[in-house]
Amino acid sequence: MTIRSAPLTPRTGSEMFLSREDLLSGSYAADIRELLVQRGVIIVRGANLSDDDQRALARSLGDLRLGTVKQEGEEGLMKVTFDEKVNPEYAKFFFGSQLWHMDGTYEEVPPFATLLTPRVLSETGGQTEFTNNYAAYEDLPEDQKAKLDALKVVHTMQAALFPGKPDCTVEEFALWHSYPNREHPLVWHHKSGRKSLVLSTSGSHIVGMHPAKSHDLLAGLMRHATQDKYVYRHTWHMGDLLIWDNTGTMHRVLPFPADSGRQLHRFTLNGEEPVRAVA
Ligand SMILES: [Fe+2]
Repeated sequence: MTIRSAPLTPRTGSEMFLSREDLLSGSYAADIRELLVQRGVIIVRGANLSDDDQRALARSLGDLRLGTVKQEGEEGLMKVTFDEKVNPEYAKFFFGSQLWHMDGTYEEVPPFATLLTPRVLSETGGQTEFTNNYAAYEDLPEDQKAKLDALKVVHTMQAALFPGKPDCTVEEFALWHSYPNREHPLVWHHKSGRKSLVLSTSGSHIVGMHPAKSHDLLAGLMRHATQDKYVYRHTWHMGDLLIWDNTGTMHRVLPFPADSGRQLHRFTLNGEEPVRAVA
């Protein structure tokens, strides 16, 4: 079985043409996963999924994440919003989503993929952008790849959040600092054989490197990976379904009015492999 799709940009993202019924049939799960890993992001316009539909689709694609973090609600449904009345735990950290990041870099096995559908949209802003960290790695010169392959990066919550709230209180900083750090190879050699940069604002520093050199290297890689040629910007419409491969992309949300009520419903798939270094 094959699915019809078309690239959204040359390097990142594909639009998939499947009806709601076909999406939910489970018959295309292997094809959807294959396209997802190839293209980093998949969208379906007019999917019009309910929460139950979205959860069922998630279950057909992988191992649905249930209750591992406080922000998640009923049976894996996470309401993505600034609105503290809807999801107080999520709202506390949502500002960090405006900086380029991968999800779950604090975990040994970062989440595999995420499914998003819009429920309330803001009139302005709120687009979601994605990079392709496979392509960004593949395009580097061979000698640079060889150097990066040997490096390890420490990911921390304060590195992820401080740039989004530089006027934070001491208490907020202390809370972020209390989260465990996680060390990952800078280059992920996936089971699939592909390699990608494990790049995220959460990347605090490179293990064993002088802080100035480490800062410049990570900042330079971030500039490289977020060039226009690697970025897909999704402008949301009601009825959309968007799925991203969290292991080979970064994402961020563009600013929007905090009082707009913008709300997306999200289900996350657990990771399937730890970040393995290039041998
Ligand atoms: Fe995120």
